Amino acid sequence: MKKKIAIFASGSGSNAENIIRYFQESTSISVIMVATNKADAYVLERAKNLNVPTYYFPKAEWTTAENIVGLLHDLQIDWVVLAGFLLHIPQSLIEAFPQRIINIHPSLLPKFGGKGMYGGHVHEAVVAAGEQESGITIHYVNEHYDEGTVIFQATCPVYPTDTPETVAEKVHALEYRHFPAVIEQLLTENP
Ligand code: GRF
Repeated sequence: MKKKIAIFASGSGSNAENIIRYFQESTSISVIMVATNKADAYVLERAKNLNVPTYYFPKAEWTTAENIVGLLHDLQIDWVVLAGFLLHIPQSLIEAFPQRIINIHPSLLPKFGGKGMYGGHVHEAVVAAGEQESGITIHYVNEHYDEGTVIFQATCPVYPTDTPETVAEKVHALEYRHFPAVIEQLLTENP
């Protein structure tokens, strides 16, 4: 039986696409759905182009997540992967998938995490603080933003000449290189 992944994403979805493509030929893992809270998120186009079913739930539905948990159970989802998903994950969802929800954050947590620290804001803060390195953190999701147990980190240098945009490029490269492989390892180690 293949392990079934659901991806949640709110934006462009370049990580979602990268993960879907990575597992397209896998005999043990499959991305079987993409869910979003944004009706016009570009991730929906990407998923449709790759023949992955998409689901849109407006923000209000994510507060109790009753319908979402029901759908995930109906689809026999094993793991939930957040790839640029911007809403808070409710307790009911965390309880339905204990230690089975992971997120990627574009900084070296605990630095530059928490509310408001998403997308470009993270890289702007990194540059403003004069950091000498940044990177990615893949972690379990708990009820607090960006505070679950860290699974994996990778770093990149930040030079005085870097801008938030160039840091974003380096961090995205790390995400594409590592996120699918870390997911694969995690799912393989946790039967
Ligand atoms: C990524 O930088 C990820 O780390 C963060 O949101 C961004 C999503 O980018 N959580 P994309 O939608 O995958 O292009």
